Amino acid sequence: MVRTPEELAAMRPSLGEVVLVPTMGALHSGHRRLISLAREKRDRAAPTAAHGSATVVVSIFVNPLQFSPGEDYDRYPRDFAADLEVCAEEGVDVVYAPSVEAVYPGEQIVRVDSGAMGRVLEGEFRPGFFEGVLTVVAKLFHMVQPDMAVFGQKDAQQLAVIRRMVRDLNMPITILAAPTVREEDGLATSSRNVYLSPQERHNALALSRALLAGADASVTGPIGIRSAARAVLDEAAEASPPVVVDYLALVDPETFTEVSSDYRGEAVLAVAAWVGDTRLIDNVPLTL
Ligand code: PAJ
Repeated sequence: MVRTPEELAAMRPSLGEVVLVPTMGALHSGHRRLISLAREKRDRAAPTAAHGSATVVVSIFVNPLQFSPGEDYDRYPRDFAADLEVCAEEGVDVVYAPSVEAVYPGEQIVRVDSGAMGRVLEGEFRPGFFEGVLTVVAKLFHMVQPDMAVFGQKDAQQLAVIRRMVRDLNMPITILAAPTVREEDGLATSSRNVYLSPQERHNALALSRALLAGADASVTGPIGIRSAARAVLDEAAEASPPVVVDYLALVDPETFTEVSSDYRGEAVLAVAAWVGDTRLIDNVPLTL
């Protein structure tokens, strides 16, 4: 395990090709899916003369910069011992778990602006969120110097803004996406699911059911998709406790702008909602 940027920089030349999986810990089956994709890439990388093989690095860092005041930074689940066990089980080569002081030794004055695509949907309801994410991901990229980095489709807008940052800032890193992992009943696996009471967890299934209803209505086009998903959410708004929707949107997966009613091509149907005090997000990729 590596705790400081200095230690990491000292070992970096011996790591060969690096595949990075950035996380905030509280590792679950979704994170495991990302790590297994990273492992596949590592095991396929050809050993070079300079380095014996490739390396999977998992970073664990709960990034204060991406939480607004009043959000769950202080109560965000942290279980470092369990995380190390998951990493050992999954064949991770290096765990990088820097302290807040090591990542932010002073005020973070210079930040990465996500632009307009980071101010809609998640960015509208969590102002400053994507600036915090992009800034820490850029810092991790500089510290770890990965050749590849893996992110989850579960956070589709995050994936899109990170891809855009890499492109717009000429970062020489290949971004890989892993599909969303779900519980058996359809709920997208998330570190925040531990906040849900049994009743809330039950009501939260409306998110994945709404997305499924939207996906089933794909052939009817954007208007039909939105209204099929909306019908499920409207019903869940009457449940106790209610499912309170922040947004339901059918967007272009690259720009995260709403698609027009005659749109054809790849799209993402995305939802964010509150169940009790817990905010959940989910999405499905669709082809129209
Ligand atoms: P975190 O929420 O820990 O998620 C780390 C990675 O796991 C992200 O790429 C996320 O999309 C992916 N992930 C989470 N749940 C998933 C699921 N059910 N299926 C597939 N992938 C899933 O996202 C963050 O941390 C942070 O914003 C971070 C990128 C680390 C920057 O701080």
